Amino acid sequence: MEKIIIEGSRRLEGEVTVSGAKNAVLPLMAACILTEGKNTITNVPDLADVRTMVKLLEILGAEVEFENSTLSIDSTNLDTWEAPYDLVKTMRASVLVLGPLTARFGRSRVSLPGGCAIGERPIDQHLKGLSILGAKIEIEEGYVDTIAKKLRGGVIPFDVSTVTGTENLILSSVLAEGETVILNAACEPEVTDLANFLIEMGADIQGAGTDIITIQGVKKLTPIKEYEVMPDRIEAGTFLIASVLTKGNILVKNCRFENMGALIGKLIEAGAEVTRENGGIRIKGNGEIKSVDFTTLPYPGFPTDMQAQMMTLMSVADGLSIITETIFPQRFLHAGELRRMGADIKLVGNSAVVRGVPSLSGAPTMASDLRASASLVLAGLAGNGKTQVSRLYHLDRGYERLDRKLENLGARIWREKE
Ligand code: EPU
Repeated sequence: MEKIIIEGSRRLEGEVTVSGAKNAVLPLMAACILTEGKNTITNVPDLADVRTMVKLLEILGAEVEFENSTLSIDSTNLDTWEAPYDLVKTMRASVLVLGPLTARFGRSRVSLPGGCAIGERPIDQHLKGLSILGAKIEIEEGYVDTIAKKLRGGVIPFDVSTVTGTENLILSSVLAEGETVILNAACEPEVTDLANFLIEMGADIQGAGTDIITIQGVKKLTPIKEYEVMPDRIEAGTFLIASVLTKGNILVKNCRFENMGALIGKLIEAGAEVTRENGGIRIKGNGEIKSVDFTTLPYPGFPTDMQAQMMTLMSVADGLSIITETIFPQRFLHAGELRRMGADIKLVGNSAVVRGVPSLSGAPTMASDLRASASLVLAGLAGNGKTQVSRLYHLDRGYERLDRKLENLGARIWREKE
C-alpha cells in the first residue's frame, strides 16, 4: 500500500489538463454490452475503477484493450450474465451491468452492493424500474436475479433522483419493445453523455439532461467507431479549489464551465477570480477566503462529490460556513480527519458547521473514501508542515495521477510505501 506525503504552504501556478470523467466512462463501458462488434472510447482515464470495470466485462466474455487513454470493447462473444461479489464489493458502479445484461440475455445475476463509507446507498429504484419494464426480480444469497423474456417499455417514476439508477434504466430500455418514460430522471451531465453515446449507437432517446427522458426501443444497436468521454467536472473542481487554497493562479484545461455553475458560483462568492479561457477555466486566489454556506443537491445544484473538498476550503475561510449534505446525509468522515489538522468543524445532523481557522497544520491522516482523500490532499497543500494521506487506493479509484498533476503545478507531493 502507498501513502502520499505533502509539504504544504506552496503557491500553485501553471496549467493542468483534466482527464475524462470516471462517472461518465463507467456507464459507457456497461453500454458496450448492448452491441456486438468493437466499440472505441477515447479520453479514458486510467483509474482503478476503470480497471475493475474492464475486469468485469472480461469475466462476462468481452474482449477489451486499454492503452493510451483508448479503450476498445468487443462484446460479440459475451457468454455470462453474472457480476460476482468480489468485483461489486470493490466498485458499486458494477451494478450498471444489471440493465444491459437483462436487455441482452433476458437475465442477469449481479451481487447486491452493500453499505459504503458515504452512506446506505440502496438500489431499490433500479429494481423498481426494471420490474416496471417486465423483469422478474429475486434476491437470493446476496445476489439480484433478473429474468425477462423481453423487456417492454413503461413509465418509471423515480421516488428519488438517482444517477446510476437513471443510467441503468436508459440502458435497459433502449432495446425494449415500445416507449419508456423516466420521470424524475437525474439531469447530471454524465447521464447526457451516456444518452449521446447510445444515440450514436442508434438508440432513440429524447430529453436527456432534463428530468423527463423518453426512450423509443429500437431493434438493434451498432458499435461506435470513436467516442470521446466528457471531462471530469469533479477533478476540475478539485483543481479550482487547490488554486484558491494556495493563493494560486491555475488554468484548468479541458473542462466544461457550463457543467460547473454551482461550484464556480460559490468560489466567486468566496472571493476567487474566475474567467473562461481557451476552453478551460482560469482561477486565481487572492488570499482572502470568505466563508459561504452551501447545500448539496442533484445537478445543477452543488455536487455532493465536491462537498469534502469545499469543506477543506471553508476550514481556512474567514467566518462561519454551514454545509448541508442532502444526497448522502452521513458523508462527513473527512470532518474528523480535517479536525486533526486543526479545523474547527461540528456536525449537527446532516450539516457541518465550519468555523474558519487561520491555517491548518500538517498531520498523518487516513482516507475513508474517494472524495474524502481529495479533501485531505487539498488540506495538505494548504497546511503548514507535512501531511500524510494513507489508504491511497481510495484516491486512485477516481483521480488520474493527481499527485503528478499537482507536482507539475508546483506542489511538493510524493508517494511512499506505507
Ligand atoms: N437512492 C435510493 N435508491 C436507489 C438509488 C439511490 O434511495 O435505488 C438514493 C441514494 O441513497 C442517495 C440518492 O438516492 O441518497 C442519490 O444517489 P445516486 O443513485 O444518484 O448515487 P449513485 O448513482 O450511486 C453516483 C455517482 C456518485 C455520486 C452520486 C451522486 C457514479 C458511478 N457514482 O452514485 O459518485 O456521489 O451519483 O451524485 O456515477 C464518486 O464519484 O465519488 C461518487 C460517489
